[in-house]
Amino acid sequence: MKIAFLKPEPPASGAFVVGVLEDRKLTPAAAALDKKTGGVLTRAMATTRFKGKKDEFLDVVAPKGVPFGRIVLAGLGKLDKLDKASAEKSGGKLVAHLNAVGETLATVSVEQIPGAPINPSDMAAHVAFGAKLRTYRFDKYKTREKEDAKPTLKALNLLVTDVAGARKVHGPLDRVADAIMFARDLVSEPPNVLYPESLAERCKRLTAFGVKVEIFDEKQLEKMGAGALLGVAQGSTRPARMVVMQYNGAPKAKDKRPVAFVGKGVTFDTGGISLKPSAGMEDMKWDMAGSAAVVGTIEALAARHAKVNAIGAIGLVENMPSGAAQRPSDIVKSMSGKTIEVLNTDAEGRLVLADVLWYVQDRFKPKAMFDLATLTGAVIIALGHEYAGIMGNNDDLANKLVAAGNATGEKVWRLPLGEAYDRDIDSPAADVKNIAGNRAAGSIIGGQFLARFVNDVPWMHIDIAGTAWSAKDHAICPKGATAFGVRLLDRLVADNYEES
Ligand code: BES
Ligand code: MN
Ligand code: ZN
Repeated sequence: MKIAFLKPEPPASGAFVVGVLEDRKLTPAAAALDKKTGGVLTRAMATTRFKGKKDEFLDVVAPKGVPFGRIVLAGLGKLDKLDKASAEKSGGKLVAHLNAVGETLATVSVEQIPGAPINPSDMAAHVAFGAKLRTYRFDKYKTREKEDAKPTLKALNLLVTDVAGARKVHGPLDRVADAIMFARDLVSEPPNVLYPESLAERCKRLTAFGVKVEIFDEKQLEKMGAGALLGVAQGSTRPARMVVMQYNGAPKAKDKRPVAFVGKGVTFDTGGISLKPSAGMEDMKWDMAGSAAVVGTIEALAARHAKVNAIGAIGLVENMPSGAAQRPSDIVKSMSGKTIEVLNTDAEGRLVLADVLWYVQDRFKPKAMFDLATLTGAVIIALGHEYAGIMGNNDDLANKLVAAGNATGEKVWRLPLGEAYDRDIDSPAADVKNIAGNRAAGSIIGGQFLARFVNDVPWMHIDIAGTAWSAKDHAICPKGATAFGVRLLDRLVADNYEES
């Protein structure tokens, strides 16, 4: 779908989209069109339930006297609730509506609405951002999809007086949208195509944005002492990788220490010898969503030239059962020197992260460190698919994440860590064990395990097992891979770590 910003002028074809506020209050563009068409909009509204509520739509097909094929009334809801987030949602829902009714070209009037708390340039840019994100499709493996099953909308034009202003706001947003789509692609790819080596290869795309991409192979990982990560990988014929991405957007900053993002990249999680049941196992192709969010975040920051130094590091393994696989009760030595008793080979994400977290804090001395991981099924029990769970050692970072979550709609909710939980992972045979041995506080136990491998760097763990994949459509994200974390962390950086 093509998106363009144009000077206000009614279109010659397609759909003309105008806004209506709650209680059928026409925006100036809608009022002008109503007048031009002899009151057809007022009459259409009166014969339906359309009230102008947020994301209600009403189509008026080919009224007399206008060159375009249809008018779409778009409900905007309450005037004082109009903001960037609501504009994004409107854009997304509009795209879904236009595809549902088979429209190919739409022109949206985005003019000043008297009293609105958002200006037209911001409104247009964020409508475009939401619209594009909603168009995401992963259809590369469909070889014979019928034309009428494909989306119809080919172009979306946004009419705005200050075209240059809208484009200026849209530029960086569109870079972020591209990064999100890239991350969604990674999450959507099947595991026969996307495995540690091929995922590492795809990270090279970031070099085009000035990111330094280092790929570590198994030999190097062994030398580095990444025994926890390698233990997970040893059951698979696919060799492990670690990718480190460095973006230096603030080379002259007083404080050059980077913000670091670490991702779990289990390209397929069978559970290993602690094999998962077959029902639903296909979901474990997206057990690398944490790593995709990290790659997407670094791309977003680099592509929009964020003034920050950032590190992305991802641990890539496939967790398979085989004659070479690690056994429950194996003891491995992590990069930190600590030994881990692996009592359940399905609690593998924490083993991978233990080494990558350690490596990143040791090498880069970050001023803050975040990890993203589809770590526990328990976080779905606790928070469902609405919030990601966060845990860590720093109240300030937790609050920053919560704020970024509320601003972007990628919401997070904090869970506690603490001494008593920590006692549950003491091992009789090694320094720590990878499960507590009961089902209590499963997500916290995962976070508590990671905490054993984090020194005094401010750190938060984000468990995205419930939010990485969606079974239903959302306003700016069709069902499937969400790339949860990219918008959250991009915003976190923008609000807290960028120099002005
Ligand atoms: N990748 C899974 C967690 C998961 C479950 C992600 C469902 C997305 C949806 C993780 O590796 C895992 O298997 N965790 C175990 C931990 C347990 C063995 C302590 C779990 O949640 O059951
Ligand atoms: Mn697992
Ligand atoms: Zn896993």
